Amino acid sequence: MSTIAIANQKGGVGKTTVTMQLGAALSRRYRVLVVDVDPQRSTMWWAENAAAALPFDFAGNQHPAVVGRLDRLHVDYDFVLVDTPGNLEDTHILETVLDTADFAIVPLTPEPLAVEPTMRTITRLIEPRALRYSVLLNRIDTRIPNQLRVWQELLDTTFGVPRFDASLRQFKAQTEAPVLGQLVTSMHDNRRTSGSIADVTRLGHEMAECLAPATQGRW
Ligand SMILES: Nc1ncnc2c1ncn2[C@@H]1O[C@H](COP(=O)(O)OP(=O)(O)O)[C@@H](O)[C@H]1O
Ligand SMILES: [Mg+2]
Repeated sequence: MSTIAIANQKGGVGKTTVTMQLGAALSRRYRVLVVDVDPQRSTMWWAENAAAALPFDFAGNQHPAVVGRLDRLHVDYDFVLVDTPGNLEDTHILETVLDTADFAIVPLTPEPLAVEPTMRTITRLIEPRALRYSVLLNRIDTRIPNQLRVWQELLDTTFGVPRFDASLRQFKAQTEAPVLGQLVTSMHDNRRTSGSIADVTRLGHEMAECLAPATQGRW
């Protein structure tokens, strides 16, 4: 079982989106549990809207200590994804999750103001725990020439942090997904949705390869 925390003390970078959509992508091949420890409960609302279309097990409104106790409950999941709060008041909640996580995904939107809180999350909370992590660029605007390349370069050279090769582009289908209760597994693949489905699917492959090399062939 691999526990993945989706973490960034900057709000609005896509933690909830990544948790729910990656959970759905991984659920195509793996047993997935999504846990929400964010007092804002955004995943709960999304999960309620999805109802029967929710492709993974879901535990909303959880105390962060629960994450470290899952092993003892003899639950058997391949991946546990944990959505965490994105504000400084709830730092203790995030820290409790990071204490027992195997990996942290750090979503980052390509905005200068998002960089400082993201780097602070990495240097103060993630790196001191020797936790494996990777930054995920989210809301890439394909109308801006070279935006993806410029930000990848920034992460690789200026900040020197690990990142996913996969990234998520900005799509209306992603913004609308929570209210429609949609996940990549329940979206009809059409012109409106195909880009987001492709992005999240690629991320799922990369995450699974990174954490479970032995199971790569199962996709
Ligand atoms: N790739 C994307 N394309 C379009 N909208 C996105 C994308 N990722 C996130 N969003 C939207 O941005 C907002 C913030 O995302 P959210 O996942 O709630 O961030 P966080 O959990 O970090 O606060 C939400 O309205 C969400 O629908
Ligand atoms: Mg959130």
